[in-house]
Amino acid sequence: MSDIAVIGLGAMGTALAHAFLNKGHEVTVWNRSPAKAEALAARGAVVAKTVEEAVRSSPLIVACLLVYDTVHEALGAAEAAFSGRTLVNLTNGTPDQARAMSDWAARHGANYLDGGIMAVPPMIGGQHALILYGGSRQAFETYSGRLDALGASRYLGEDAGLAPLYDISLLAGMYGLFAGVLQALALTGKAGIPAREFMPLLTAWLEAMQGALPKWAEQIDSGDHTSNVVSNLGMQADAYVNLIDATRSAAVSAELVLPMQDLMRRGVAAGNANADLSSLVGLLQRPKPGA
Ligand SMILES: NC(=O)c1ccc[n+]([C@@H]2O[C@H](COP(=O)([O-])OP(=O)(O)OC[C@H]3O[C@@H](n4cnc5c(N)ncnc54)[C@H](OP(=O)(O)O)[C@@H]3O)[C@@H](O)[C@H]2O)c1
Repeated sequence: MSDIAVIGLGAMGTALAHAFLNKGHEVTVWNRSPAKAEALAARGAVVAKTVEEAVRSSPLIVACLLVYDTVHEALGAAEAAFSGRTLVNLTNGTPDQARAMSDWAARHGANYLDGGIMAVPPMIGGQHALILYGGSRQAFETYSGRLDALGASRYLGEDAGLAPLYDISLLAGMYGLFAGVLQALALTGKAGIPAREFMPLLTAWLEAMQGALPKWAEQIDSGDHTSNVVSNLGMQADAYVNLIDATRSAAVSAELVLPMQDLMRRGVAAGNANADLSSLVGLLQRPKPGA
């Protein structure tokens, strides 16, 4: 018997398996393409010939495959082996997919945790890796010691959909940031300003602007978006027109920034000109008229 079976040895699954080995755990691995298991075998991992053999090897099965369809396809071949075991699925997906996977595990007698990996493979096992978990509390309490080998573990609650919800929301924040950075670099680059010269100003500015976010959290939770406002929506909506006009006259595409203008205008039209930008969250939570 091993301590942990790792199903899927892509870039991420391989990093997970190495992190478990680094902590001295007995690890069994399986991958569709067996060659990816060789380096792990050289470090003492047992290589299973089938998914079923991997599942039967351990009480804790960690799956990290490309998408949920892949997980269903791979694990479906071994469903009879899951009874009494714990499945931790770290594949990226949606809350609905996670809940369906949790139901699948329950039907086959397994405890289930769904996880969201907030790290890239080289970070796994290091102090900056965060893994979010939702699902069986009992499974988390039993195995968090082993799972801590991957990074900081954060349990969110019994709903398996919570891990992908947090994961996707964190990614939404990240992609919003990246979109703004791409726009800024397109504008300055078009004017011949080297990205290396502009980047230090941009990173310092973004860091300073993060200071506003804790106040947004208070405003959103309290529903009061109008106390102590220093940069009201009406002012920002007017200034934003300049951002769009300057972008267009520089012959730079405004495709990333136009949706924000639309949202700001809707906020002003809804009577929120004196509120903070945080008031736009409520508009996003309602479908756009006609959508
Ligand atoms: N890499 C990252 O930075 C990162 C960060 C956070 C989360 N994630 C998530 O982690 C998961 C794995 O990512 P990764 O970077 O390891 O991807 P990857 O390197 O592309 O590996 C994909 C894995 O899925 C397996 N696979 C694909 N189709 C399959 C099928 N039909 N049947 C059986 N196995 C199949 C591959 O097997 P073969 O080796 O045989 O092709 C491989 O083990 C994804 O859900 C990803 O979103 C990745």
